Amino acid sequence: MKKAGLVIILLGVFTLVALLVFRIPSIPHSLEGKKKCITCHSRQGMVPYPKWHEKHGYGNDDCTGCHQLASGATE
Ligand code: HEC
Ligand code: HEC
Repeated sequence: MKKAGLVIILLGVFTLVALLVFRIPSIPHSLEGKKKCITCHSRQGMVPYPKWHEKHGYGNDDCTGCHQLASGATE
């Protein structure tokens, strides 16, 4: 099946671009007393998250699934 092969190649390219271009920023600050990410990172917050976060409806418990604590920041 030629079509299936093409789909697989396109998916591979998409994943690569997503990894290279949309690099997930790590969390530069400690999480001490900062568990409620949305207080500061909502679209109206002081460091707003990207629009697509709101569209996906990410909650406070979802953030660390993608964003890792930076190695310098203490927990
Ligand atoms: C009290 C406000 C506050 C809370 C709560 C908070 N942050 Fe932050 N965050 C900041 C500020 C201010 C910055 C800007 C960098 C700095 O000065 O530390 C930042 C930066 C970031 C960045 C880097 C953004 C970039 O452009 O590189 C990420 C990612 C992030 N925070 C994720 C989180 C996550 C995930 C949580 C919840 C576990 C969270 N933050 C909770 C204030 C907050
Ligand atoms: C599915 C993975 C995923 C989840 C879940 C997620 N993020 Fe992100 N986030 C990303 C990626 C990828 C980027 C960088 C690409 C971009 O800016 O669009 C990013 C960027 C950011 C930035 C930097 C924005 C900027 O302009 O520099 C902040 C702040 C942030 N996220 C906060 C959060 C918070 C708070 C949550 C939880 C409510 C969250 N993220 C949930 C993947 C995720």
